[in-house]
Amino acid sequence: MIAQLKAQLTDMVGSAKDLNALEEARVTALGKKGRITDLMKTLGTLSPEERKTTGAELNTLKDEISALIEKQEQALKKQALDARLAHEKMDVTLSVRPQAKGTIHPISQTMDELVSIFGAMGFSVAEGPDIEDDWHNFTALNFPPGHPAREMHDTFYLPDDPKQTGDAAKKLLRTHTSTMQVRHMMANKPPYKIIVMGRTYRSDYDMTHTPMFHQIEGLVIDKDIHMGHLKGCLMDFARAYFGMDQLPVRFRPSFFPFTEPSAEMDIGCSRKDGGLKIGAGDDWLEILGCGMVHPNVLKNCGVDPDEYQGFAFGMGVERIAMLKYGIPDLRTFFDSDVRWLSHYGFDPLDRPNRATGSK
Ligand code: PHE
Repeated sequence: MIAQLKAQLTDMVGSAKDLNALEEARVTALGKKGRITDLMKTLGTLSPEERKTTGAELNTLKDEISALIEKQEQALKKQALDARLAHEKMDVTLSVRPQAKGTIHPISQTMDELVSIFGAMGFSVAEGPDIEDDWHNFTALNFPPGHPAREMHDTFYLPDDPKQTGDAAKKLLRTHTSTMQVRHMMANKPPYKIIVMGRTYRSDYDMTHTPMFHQIEGLVIDKDIHMGHLKGCLMDFARAYFGMDQLPVRFRPSFFPFTEPSAEMDIGCSRKDGGLKIGAGDDWLEILGCGMVHPNVLKNCGVDPDEYQGFAFGMGVERIAMLKYGIPDLRTFFDSDVRWLSHYGFDPLDRPNRATGSK
């Protein structure tokens, strides 16, 4: 009888065509209500002598069938793998499938150009946190408490940091990269010659404002830096960036709490027939803010203003990208629209400091 059962089960396991069928066979043979298990349960009704021999035979059968199942499982798995290997072929001689062509975002492109231009002038690049506190964003930069300029920044405030007190507890998203003037001066000894690029945040939204945008900040501090250096540096920059040796520029007096004197730099343009043309004409377009770093800022950062002075500047990365590449709406920068990107984006292999766009 056991021999017959063995033949049946062996046949069942051997004929299982896939892993599901094999599992069924295993349950039929060895499951809780399986054939062998059933027989095991009847051992109690046998005489002690029979129980001994039948018990031993059943145990052997159980082991044999288990081993068979194991073997069959390996065979089925190998079969499945062989089938996949035979089926999934790769012809390495086929030409590459055309893929959606990625491009470099105009912001990245512009930042690369900025690093390339200022890098050539000897600036190094510093970076800092987007989440700042009131002290780095305002107080250290000589914004008096309650000064209207604080409100002008449309600041996004975050919940206070319970581990800090005073200005340092008031967390915010930085409204400008000038925060990094402070961080860099506090962490390093003068002289300084850095640019900082990164995200900045202000609660504002229209054709020329988005709640998040990018700025580039410049800081040059040494023992003999004066306004002439500021003008020369920024004129060289603008002419290199827009690729025009004769680009007209002018500096207009302005106000920032952290610079004295302060100025805004304009570039020459014409606005005829609704079109904007940079580099010619009798109109002016503002591109950046700048000035000589205020002695109070140097003092707040542990730098002696009697020994060191210099200049700083800041400008919007999107704004100068829009001007150079003729992009009319700032909001489109952040739509993640591949059609926009394929139109305004840049080839990854383009050189970053090329003066005009590839379009
Ligand atoms: N931080 C100023 C702004 O965001 C720009 C600026 C930077 C002006 C450095 C002067 C010097 O408007």
